[in-house]
Parts: sequence; structure tokens; C-alpha cells
Amino acid sequence: MAPARENPFTFLEVLEQHVREHRVSFHVPGHHNGTVVDDRLPDAFAKIMPYDLTELAHLDDLHDASGIIEQAERALGNLYASNSKWLVNGSTVGNWSMLAATVKRGERVYVQRNSHKSVWNAIEWLGLKPVLLTPTIERGTGIPTVVTLDTIEQAIKEFPGGKAVMLTSPTYYGDMADIRTISDYLTPLDIPLLVDEAHGAHLIHPQLPRRSAIFEGASAVVQSAHKTLPALTMGAWVHYKDNIDEARLKHALASFQTSSPSYLIMASLDYARSYLERLTDEEWSAIQKSHAQFVLELKRAGFVVKVGDDFMKVTILTYPKNGLIFSQHLASIGIDIELAAVDHVLFCLPLREIKKQEIEHWIKLIKKASTHVPIIEDDETIFPFPQTERVSELYTSETALPMQRVLFDQAIGLISAETVIPYPPGIPWILKGERITEEKIRVLREWISLGRKLQASKHVMIEQIDVIVEEF
Ligand SMILES: Cc1ncc(COP(=O)(O)O)c(C=O)c1O
Repeated sequence: MAPARENPFTFLEVLEQHVREHRVSFHVPGHHNGTVVDDRLPDAFAKIMPYDLTELAHLDDLHDASGIIEQAERALGNLYASNSKWLVNGSTVGNWSMLAATVKRGERVYVQRNSHKSVWNAIEWLGLKPVLLTPTIERGTGIPTVVTLDTIEQAIKEFPGGKAVMLTSPTYYGDMADIRTISDYLTPLDIPLLVDEAHGAHLIHPQLPRRSAIFEGASAVVQSAHKTLPALTMGAWVHYKDNIDEARLKHALASFQTSSPSYLIMASLDYARSYLERLTDEEWSAIQKSHAQFVLELKRAGFVVKVGDDFMKVTILTYPKNGLIFSQHLASIGIDIELAAVDHVLFCLPLREIKKQEIEHWIKLIKKASTHVPIIEDDETIFPFPQTERVSELYTSETALPMQRVLFDQAIGLISAETVIPYPPGIPWILKGERITEEKIRVLREWISLGRKLQASKHVMIEQIDVIVEEF
């Protein structure tokens, strides 16, 4: 791989130099280097506006990089031992692009059932035929985790000819698949392994027990730098190996991403890369130790805690107390968390050493919030996962099929014509093309009555759903 940096200045330094020169802007964006503002704009915001630049000759072009962006992407690639590209539309666009680069319209792809909605949207719009891979369900918590090699083997046997395997690892809850074993199996079959690693950009240090899939044989990996590193929201990147068709991937990225990429996001990506690069061995161990200490103190305070393979995610299992109400109590005292479900709450920890005083303070607050949390009224509301066959094919059709809107009770046994997504985590509960079961309807009803945030059509809220009218 070529040396990381021919230019002595980082991307951020070049932007800084540009800002310092107080140049005249006769170009977009319309704030003209932050000169079209008035005093209603908060100071902090006004200060960063001049950094929001555009593709001037010396500032390179994300979609045809040959200058400072190319250098920064190469530095990123060196860190992850891969080819790497910045993404300004989140892992969402990375998932779309990985799939578009490897699977063509009408072709099969093997996909983890608890994938994020970005994967399902891409599959629908790209016209792919997904074979669903059911993840292992964790005993005790019922939380869906990762897909095992057995399931992938079965899928390839029962539904041969798929062009890629698309997994999620780590999951939202920090569980990680055995990527090395899976990639060793897929490589001789010439099936690329694509990994949605939106939550795993930080997993690079050799001391870590589990590292990013890009070091374990995956063909392409997408990471939301903004989720676990100090990057701005939407900042993400994709890493890929030589068995990915680079021209196709680049074409997809240029097609699906904005033609006006944010220089603020890109600057934050370069900063996030250098933040990671500069962490010393001592800092890595201090971070991990402080996180372990936080978990220990939670346990000492009487909480039941799940930590997956990724040390940045901590789930408190609240059962028999109601996690949704626990999260409201936390918010009322100024603690905002990543996700709440009826029987658990999920915390994302920062990639820095957490100070002893912070841990003490937080534990005190968390304990306070947990008092007076009511008991779950109905055991059946526990977060479930649709129990389906280990491997199945999603119903897809190239032509528009007749649909009908029916009441929930009438929909049982029929194929859904729409997707229903609890958010967060953004993993569909009902997929368009999936058969609707009694369990799915029961849980959906409970979520609606509990006021859980759902991304779904308005009519779903009044217990109606569109189904495909099947021809017999
Ligand atoms: C597993 C997973 N994949 C992909 C995404 C999409 O990432 P982004 O928000 O960076 O587009 C998310 C977002 O929550 C996610 O949890």
C-alpha cells in the first residue's frame, strides 16, 4: 500500500488554512464562508460554518478523489489494512453500496434476519432476492444475536447460487459473529462476505479480544464512525478487499450519496481516524478497564448486566422492572440512553477512559432512577424475536401484486405488503414479503398500546395492515 501521507497537512489543517486566509466566496454553500448570518445564530454554530466548504480545486472531490481526500482515505485504509472510502450518508449508504457492488437485480443474497432497515430497503429497491438467516437467540434475555456458520451452510445448500452473505456484527447489543470461521468457509466458494459493522469502527487494537471483521477475512465492511468514534452524525466509512469490484462500488457510492458532501462531516472523519490512530496501548487498556469498572459498579449496585463481545455496549436487564419506564426516569434526571425496551435498557459508552468520579456519579443517578420503576404488568410483553425457520426465502415479486388492507386478526397467515420497524433499534419486526404470524400481531398490538415508537404506516396504529393478495 502507498505511504499514508504525501501532503504534510491533514485534511482538517488544509481546511483551517483555507479559513484563516479569509477568502472571498463566490461559490456555494449559500452562507458564503459563514458571512451570511445574523446574531440569532448561536456563536458556536457560527464558528464552524466557515469550515463547511465545497469541492474547490485544492479541496479535492469525494467522488473523484485525487488530492487531500484521497490521502486521508489512504491513511484510513492503512489503519484498517484495507481499501477505504469515506461515506457522508452513514452506514446506510455503505450497506446499499456493498450490496449493489456484489449482487445484481434478481439474484439471491443471504441476509441476517435482524439486519438494520437500511439493508432491507436496499434489498427491496435493488430488486434482490433475500434468503433470511435467523440469528441465535440468547438464552435468558431472548435478545437476537448473530448468525452461525451452520445456518449459512444450510442456506447455501437449500437455496444455492447466492452472490453474497450479508451479516451484522457487532449487533446493537455488542454480540459478534465468528467472522474468521465464516469467511474461511465462504472464500473457497467465492461468495463475498459483507459485514454491517455500523457499531464496530473502534474495534482495531490488537489487544482486543474481538476485532473488526475487516481483519478477520470479510470482503467488505461498513462502519458508522459517528456511532462509536468522535465523528459527526452521518460520518461513516467502508473498507474493502481486492475481491470487491472497486469500479462498481465507486459507481454505487457516487450514485447513492449526495453530490455535495459535507466538509464538516469529512473533517470529523479524518479527526476520528487520527483519534483512533493516536490511542496508545496504555490508553486502550485504561479505557477497557474503566468500562469494566463501570459494569462492576452496576453489578455491585444490584443491576443485572449483559455485556456482549464489544466493551462499548452495556445492557441492563431490568426484568421484572419495566425498562421503558426506567428510561423515562433516567431522562427526567438528565441521562439519555441509546435504547429502551420493556425488559432492558442499552447504554453506549464513550471511547475514552471514564473517570472514577464519573462512574460514582453515574451509578448514583442510575440507582436513583431505578427506584420506583414499576414491575412489568404482563410477562408476555418481553422483547421477543420472530421465531421462524432457521433459513427461509422472503417473498419477492418483480411485478406489483394486488394488495388489500385488512384488520390485524385477518392478516394472520398472510404475506405482509409492508414493513413495520420498532425504532430504535431499526430492525424490522415485520418485513414486506414475510408471512404474518399470530405472535407478530400479538406483540405489535402490545407495542402500540404501550406507545413504543414504530416506523410504520398510520393505519398500522389503528390495527390494520396491507397484505399481498396471493393467487392460488
Ligand atoms: C446495525 C446498523 N446498521 C446500519 C445502521 C445505519 O447507520 P447510519 O445511521 O450510519 O446510516 C444502523 C443505525 O442505527 C445500525 O444500527
